[in-house]
Amino acid sequence: MLENKKVLFSGMQPSGRPTLGNYLGAFKNWNSLQEEYDCIYCIADLHAITVRQDPSMLRKYTKELLALYLAAGLDNEKNTIYIQSNVSAHAELAWILNCYSYMGELSRMTQFKDKSQKQGQNIPTGLFNYPVLQAADILLYQTSVVPVGEDQRQHLELARDIAIRFNNIYGDVFTIPEMYIPKVGAKIMGLQNPTKKMSKSDADNENNVIYLLDDLKVIANKIKRSVTDSDNQIIYSDDKPGIKNLLNIYCAITNKSTEQAEKDFNGFGYGAFKEAVSEVVVEEIRPIQEKFNTILSDKAFLENVIKDGAKKADYIANKTLRKVKKKVGFI
Ligand code: TRP
Repeated sequence: MLENKKVLFSGMQPSGRPTLGNYLGAFKNWNSLQEEYDCIYCIADLHAITVRQDPSMLRKYTKELLALYLAAGLDNEKNTIYIQSNVSAHAELAWILNCYSYMGELSRMTQFKDKSQKQGQNIPTGLFNYPVLQAADILLYQTSVVPVGEDQRQHLELARDIAIRFNNIYGDVFTIPEMYIPKVGAKIMGLQNPTKKMSKSDADNENNVIYLLDDLKVIANKIKRSVTDSDNQIIYSDDKPGIKNLLNIYCAITNKSTEQAEKDFNGFGYGAFKEAVSEVVVEEIRPIQEKFNTILSDKAFLENVIKDGAKKADYIANKTLRKVKKKVGFI
């Protein structure tokens, strides 16, 4: 690692089609972090297989996520972008940390409780161990800050607990990571259910989610059909979750304040407002899709980015892994 910047680490699972929420809440803003931090972005395919994936779809989604990062402007020279399964240190450290984490603390993870309920009788052990793998991800890179949503807070706290526990036994091996609340970036909610986060794994209702690779006409239609309320006033308020969400989307793209947006739309009806929002969304996504298609069709380029990212990540991760192995007594 060059200079003495702190490390920022984040991961995203390639377990579905990336959404407008993923983009506006996360990777649209990642370039703005690169001056201040050494940024490492992991495409978490090891995490994705904690629930059954179709192999050809997993491959497709993994490549697509990477191509989308690049298409959205994330600079792969200035940041480390890689595929988790390309760096075997993740699996190795995860095993070791399994021996330093407790059944009790893993049983308390709310995401495990939610996800395991959907699995019937046979709950994969990996689903239970998932947060340990996530701790390994974070700790391998001596990460200081992890930008994640509220839903990941518990996992981050576990990573901290494991790191502190390990350091207490063996000395200063891991940097203790902190949760990073980004200065920019919006939490985007579903269009049909604006009180719940827009999620790529929410495949039940197509109209609830804008996928970045949706046809542009489809995107405009989804916005037009989004759920609002009946008082026809464009005001940013918790009592109006649908309108608030559309304003958040509009502001995240235009960089306007919500006060400014309220002024812009003073006197507009919902129809015209939705029209305006859908126009900025479509014009934001259009060039990304064009670039995405170019990148995805350039197989050699993409392969190079993958190889390069893996090499950079592998180097950093193995420094920590070697230290850990020595500490626990492996020859
Ligand atoms: N578990 C995270 C999610 O589902 C993704 C993830 C994997 C991650 N490893 C990570 C996030 C490390 C932050 C740090 O959103």
